[in-house]
Amino acid sequence: MTAPLAQPEEASNLPVPARLDEVKGWFWPADQILFDWFLSRQNADPSGGGDLLELGAYLGKSAIFLGGYLKEGEEFTVCDLFDSPAEDDNNDDEMRRSYATLTRRAFEANYRAFHDELPTVVQAVTAVLPDRVRPASCRFVHVDASHLYAHVRADVETSRLLSAPGAIVVFDDFRAEHCPGVAAAVWGAVDARRLHVLCITQHKMYATWDHPEPLRTELAVFLAGREDLWHGVEEVAGAPLIRITGRKA
Ligand SMILES: C[S@@+](CC[C@H](N)C(=O)[O-])C[C@H]1O[C@@H](n2cnc3c(N)ncnc32)[C@H](O)[C@@H]1O
Repeated sequence: MTAPLAQPEEASNLPVPARLDEVKGWFWPADQILFDWFLSRQNADPSGGGDLLELGAYLGKSAIFLGGYLKEGEEFTVCDLFDSPAEDDNNDDEMRRSYATLTRRAFEANYRAFHDELPTVVQAVTAVLPDRVRPASCRFVHVDASHLYAHVRADVETSRLLSAPGAIVVFDDFRAEHCPGVAAAVWGAVDARRLHVLCITQHKMYATWDHPEPLRTELAVFLAGREDLWHGVEEVAGAPLIRITGRKA
């Protein structure tokens, strides 16, 4: 289901953020640095291109950031239930507990404070995405919707189906105590040697369904020059995995 766009006069009552840190959400500085590095690298590649996709937008914090890297002719799709009901009781509980006051109007008002054009908004469960987004069309996919295992497992598969060659896929909350279902779904794909991890931060895993080189080596070179990010390398599932924290250890 795609609900109609919010009317401008309705949105005009909502507060207008002037800076990204005034938008409520979960998008931390180390991840902003990494989103910038991956997306700028893609944008600098004349042979590159592809669409952007976010599963789970909330009030738009990460979507607003992502939208800044959209190039002419590309599409940015954002999928969220916003104020629509979920399709199963567990997801409904999750929505009530964590996102009770969320509205699509508030997302759109925030997004419009930073960008002239809204992204393509799919107000629905993420399960509809394979029918709404072209296969193999996305160069960057941010998965940050439900934390429930069944949903995330499907989102992991959707990220694979919709990824263009060389695409970056980012999974939020891949290791936190409050969301074991995300960890099980995401690490399951890593353990099966299908999903290749590039790096992890405290909150997000950065990975690709494609060959991880030369991206991983270039990332290590970038990190070696950053005074503000600590990183270390550990072998996981037969491949080097870069761990990053937001400050030097
Ligand atoms: C953690 S928030 C997203 C945070 C956002 N990316 C940010 O950086 O602030 C998760 C979002 O997923 C949405 N959501 C939860 N279950 C969903 C589902 N099954 N399909 C689509 N969206 C869902 C919620 O409405 C909520 O807005």
